[in-house]
Amino acid sequence: MEIVRTGPDDARFAAWCGVWAAAQRADRPGEAPRPASDHVALGRRLTTPGGALRGTHRAAVADGAVVGALRLLLPVRDNTSVAYVDVAVHPAARRRGVGTALLAEAARLAAAAGRSSLVAEVDEPGPGTAGRAFAQAHGWTCGLQETRRDLLLPVDEDRLAALEAGAAAASAGYEVLTWRDRTPDRLLEDRALLGRRMSTDAPSGDVPVGEEDWDAARVREQETVVLDRGRTVLSAGAVRDGRLVAFTELHVPLAQPERAHQGATLVLREHRGHRLGARVKTAVLRELAATLPEVRRISTYNSDTNRPMVAVNEALGFVRAGGLSTWSTRLPA
Ligand SMILES: CC(C)(COP(=O)(O)OP(=O)(O)OC[C@H]1O[C@@H](n2cnc3c(N)ncnc32)[C@H](O)[C@@H]1OP(=O)(O)O)[C@@H](O)C(=O)NCCC(=O)NCCS
Repeated sequence: MEIVRTGPDDARFAAWCGVWAAAQRADRPGEAPRPASDHVALGRRLTTPGGALRGTHRAAVADGAVVGALRLLLPVRDNTSVAYVDVAVHPAARRRGVGTALLAEAARLAAAAGRSSLVAEVDEPGPGTAGRAFAQAHGWTCGLQETRRDLLLPVDEDRLAALEAGAAAASAGYEVLTWRDRTPDRLLEDRALLGRRMSTDAPSGDVPVGEEDWDAARVREQETVVLDRGRTVLSAGAVRDGRLVAFTELHVPLAQPERAHQGATLVLREHRGHRLGARVKTAVLRELAATLPEVRRISTYNSDTNRPMVAVNEALGFVRAGGLSTWSTRLPA
């Protein structure tokens, strides 16, 4: 087995994406895996200079076939001591040390880029996932445990209307608006602040990541990347005295619109306690039903410590669908 460099413009990249698809199919058989076009668009972003993240890809090749995939992501504007690692091994090639070899390569690349910690996420449809056992076997620490919850659409109208009415009554004086894909110019600076706060205020457990450096240009960069990845994003925000103080967003992959992903939701600290979280979430669900009725399900991930967000989600009818754990390890100095 050898480990070779690959990337979105390399002949091996289709097979590299195929490893991800096979791994995802094995772990969650009922769900469409991420399309290759998504990996390609993300890969282009990571390998094009100037963005907030750069990165590189490696393929594990045995007997001429790609059997393992590594993507290393390096934040460049903030969190420059960290490297994010995505590793997958084809289900037919597991327990032969391929994952371990890719992890060693990730550690080598990260150290060469001056990073001191590796961080990785493990999707856990149920107990006993390979990813958890693998991370534990390598002595990594689980710093954050999140529960995935799914909401089947359409939302029960009585639930939605009740939540909407309660939230509207508690948040008089706030105007709610929705937008798609591009944040309106007049809200851009505020949206950047909300992005920054998202990185400090959403529970991150003991994962060694800190505040992200967001400005208007980074919001625009992120919007472009998401569009390039074939997604459309519906957002709802709450405005007070002309300032955006809360927002939520749903990402819908246009090639597979059956399942949407909940993106960030945040209410600025000084505006909490007015049920704005429920207000923007109900608003974006109304907009989704009106403009993208083909979406059948929304998946969201919350730390179990995030009671306010979990309460809103449970009131909407989200139900548990496994978990996501975030692991880290320090590289030797
Ligand atoms: C996790 C994953 C990358 C492991 O790949 P792999 O090539 O099978 O891993 P290795 O053969 O190097 O395993 C190293 C050790 O991890 C542990 N391990 C790996 N898979 C395991 C499993 N299914 N059950 C129990 N232990 C496991 C074992 O201790 C193993 O050593 P052993 O085989 O000598 O007992 C692979 O299962 C995968 O692609 N899973 C889906 C994606 C994912 O979860 N990625 C992890 C991100 S950290």
